[in-house]
Amino acid sequence: MAALKGRDLLSLADLSADEVQELLQLAAQLKSGQINLRCNKVLGLLFYKASTRTRVSFSVAMYQLGGQVMDLNPDVTQVSRGEPVQDTARVLDRYLDILAIRTFEQQQLETFAQYTKIPVINALTDLEHPCQILADLLTIQECFGKLAGLTLTYLGDGNNVAHSLLLGCALVGMNVRIATPPEFEPNPAIVEQAQAIARSQTEVVVTHDAVATARGANVLYTDVWASMGQEAEATSRIPVFQPYQINQHLLSIANPKAIVLHCLPAHRGEEITNGVMEGFQSRVWDQAENRLHAQKALLVSLLGAD
Ligand code: CP
Ligand code: NVA
Repeated sequence: MAALKGRDLLSLADLSADEVQELLQLAAQLKSGQINLRCNKVLGLLFYKASTRTRVSFSVAMYQLGGQVMDLNPDVTQVSRGEPVQDTARVLDRYLDILAIRTFEQQQLETFAQYTKIPVINALTDLEHPCQILADLLTIQECFGKLAGLTLTYLGDGNNVAHSLLLGCALVGMNVRIATPPEFEPNPAIVEQAQAIARSQTEVVVTHDAVATARGANVLYTDVWASMGQEAEATSRIPVFQPYQINQHLLSIANPKAIVLHCLPAHRGEEITNGVMEGFQSRVWDQAENRLHAQKALLVSLLGAD
């Protein structure tokens, strides 16, 4: 993974198809204990939004590699008092070895990357959630023994997770179908980017038809109907998104061996029923665990092992 050393991961499209496959292979080897790597570096976490999985899995990954983690809580640093990103970035660059940022605008993440020489990782923006999708692909590969040729159907909001799934599935040769209510489609520029990666070899489909997209799918995937920052719309969105709920009926339309994924946190009874979430086709806990293994592979690839 020498090719990744020193680079940023701002979008999943920053990785080539081969680099995604190599990261997944490394993650699987780290998870199985087949290899054990050390990386005595310092990771900064600058999170402007809440997080459980991303925060904890990045921290544990770094500790297990023998490194350190600094939680740069915006509330107790000068960023919340208006210090310009350009200034904060150049200072953090002098202390840290790598920086993971969770924020709203992709542009802010890109400004951090522009003003730092250390690797910057997108730990979720309004546009993308690449680290999540690396773990998702690892989970799918574990379940099916392959990725290419499988079909993933995402139902719900055309949000950050949908965007990174579009790119990630296209990169590994999976068919990707996104079903959203009208006016909640994914960003057309990301859809075009995914189609360009897929080069007509695999499906990249965006529709409003939940039932048609679920038919025969190997993976059903959903996320919250209102993301962080959209809480004011959460109640009004419920009736609009109801036809896109992953429930037993929709699952029965998918491939009989289909698995169900959710990036979490979930709102049971909204985008997914409790029965499906706790059912035998759900792989959400393996998926959450894989955040640790995928991000450990990412950290060691961007930083290099000791
Ligand atoms: N899936 C995910 O990113 O979870 P957190 O918001 O808890 O980090
Ligand atoms: N789309 C969700 C994902 C949370 C992990 C959000 O941005 O809030």
